[in-house]
Amino acid sequence: MANQEDLAKPPSSLQSFLEDLHCKYKPLQNGAVANYIPELAKVDPDSFSICIVTVDGEVYEVGDSQQLFTIQSISKVFVYGLALEDHGRDYILTRVGVEPTGDAFNAIILDEQSKRPYNPMVNAGAIATTSLIKGSGATERLNRMLDMFRRYIGRDVFVDISVFTSERTTGHRNRAMAHLMLNFGMIDEPIDTALDLYFQQCAVMVNCHDLAVMAATLANKGVNPMTKEQAVNSRYVKDILSVMYTCGMYNFAGEWAYKVGIPAKSGISGGIIAVVPDKMGIAVFSPRLDARGNSVRGVKVCEELSQHLGLHLFECARLVKSQE
Ligand code: DON
Repeated sequence: MANQEDLAKPPSSLQSFLEDLHCKYKPLQNGAVANYIPELAKVDPDSFSICIVTVDGEVYEVGDSQQLFTIQSISKVFVYGLALEDHGRDYILTRVGVEPTGDAFNAIILDEQSKRPYNPMVNAGAIATTSLIKGSGATERLNRMLDMFRRYIGRDVFVDISVFTSERTTGHRNRAMAHLMLNFGMIDEPIDTALDLYFQQCAVMVNCHDLAVMAATLANKGVNPMTKEQAVNSRYVKDILSVMYTCGMYNFAGEWAYKVGIPAKSGISGGIIAVVPDKMGIAVFSPRLDARGNSVRGVKVCEELSQHLGLHLFECARLVKSQE
């Protein structure tokens, strides 16, 4: 149970807590690496890193936090922010809802009445969101996206062509969803144009340290705490964090909100980011997934971090502290 003392833990104790967590969960081998995108199956399943970046730019990390992997669904959070900047909240709401589905991330469903995809964190909603990214032509749109990732991370990023090609060749389910949305006018362009951009955003290479900086940027009102660059207009941060909170962990989102209590997003390659507003960004990378597509070790580590540091948004000790 968290108390005021836990909340005030000195930095060195946070580093040793991360090291303890890493030791504790390293032997855990439950779950399986995603293989429906064939290239993803090549990852070392034992990879495991944890990184925390505070809004003051302090970094705590353990494991190989420089190991690169594709960002996958975690990209959806940031592309949603770019779409909000491109079109504003009201228009985006007409194209993509904000309701959790309670279904798997790749469910082929749209809202019965509005025909909108339910939210931007599931595949259907993410594809519709990506199709809204502005730019004259595929190259400019991709470059705008890559530049957006650069602002959050603080370095240039690139797309892993083999993962992109692998998903493009095998992504029939996403293609089916895109067709459905084209049919209902929720996508206004040839589906392959939208899907290519979506598959490219999912194949952007990041490491655990990068993800923690990205999460910390959201915790810091959209300003990258390392470079001080504004990565996203601060007015949209609450929209992004709200959908992360209610939809970011798919059909585990309710239990996550109950137990961990902070906005988060997982990706099929094994990453999880979590955002503690005004405090820190957390990232875990471990590729073995549970049945809902969330990293097994990642969920465990975040549960323990939240409990130990009193991070749950409705934690009384935290609420008392913020009133002082
Ligand atoms: O569209 C897909 O299926 C993948 N590119 C991304 C899915 C994903 O990361 C879901 N996350 N748990």
